[in-house]
Amino acid sequence: MLKIQNITKKFGGVKAVDNCDFEIKKGMITALIGPNGSGKTTLFNLVSGILKADSGKIILNNKNITNLSIEKISNLGISRLFQKPSLFKNLTIKENLLLAMNDEDTKFWQAVFKISSDKKDKFEEKIKQILKNFEMEDFINIRAEDLSYGQKRLVEIARAILNQHNFLMLDEPAAGVNPRLREKIRKILLKLKEKNETILLIEHDMNFTLKTADTIIVLEKGGVIAQGNPEEIKNNKRVLEAYLGG
Ligand SMILES: Nc1ncnc2c1ncn2[C@@H]1O[C@H](COP(=O)(O)OP(=O)(O)O)[C@@H](O)[C@H]1O
Ligand SMILES: [Mg+2]
Repeated sequence: MLKIQNITKKFGGVKAVDNCDFEIKKGMITALIGPNGSGKTTLFNLVSGILKADSGKIILNNKNITNLSIEKISNLGISRLFQKPSLFKNLTIKENLLLAMNDEDTKFWQAVFKISSDKKDKFEEKIKQILKNFEMEDFINIRAEDLSYGQKRLVEIARAILNQHNFLMLDEPAAGVNPRLREKIRKILLKLKEKNETILLIEHDMNFTLKTADTIIVLEKGGVIAQGNPEEIKNNKRVLEAYLGG
């Protein structure tokens, strides 16, 4: 599905991503882990077109997407949850999700201000359905600022899957979230996998990762130091040293 081929990205003298190379399989949850500053978010920014690579290639479904514009990449079906929460706090959940709605003849702000009532009904129906799947239908008219941190993250995950997409990147969806909602987020990710979503997940918590991912890729200083299933990663000496501090 996605191939990262020998990608390097420098910021001044710092190699944030250093000759990084791995592959993501369709229909799987792949976790990208590694210490703070190991290049995880930079990799996401490279894949989604926010940053340009210095060298290397990024291939999505056999198409070379290296250094395409953000818009082109998003049109190819890469959807993303950012590390920093980004809901409009004064808008309701429904309004936040309406703003994210997109189809052939409706873009962004138009979604709220210019669409026909038919289309709006259709959109609202879809929003209700997604919130229902997340057991959050009661929050539809609540302002974003009145949700807990974990509830906001859930809404952002809902937003990330709202539009047609074929690949989902989630930057620390469960970090800073209370244990109950972390578990809810985990179950939602597993449910999405059952529906054949392909997910690349950045996550700090080793426990969460081991219980959730099919494949784990471990980064250190911008390069891959290990890749394998949870059992392999749990027993990998290099990972234990680098990631867990020995
Ligand atoms: N926009 C930027 N400008 C300069 N340095 C950056 C920038 N983004 C990230 N870095 C540096 O690149 C390295 C990797 O950062 P990042 O990708 O955010 O790591 P992670 O997400 O794994 O914590 C760090 O040393 C960070 O300070
Ligand atoms: Mg990060």
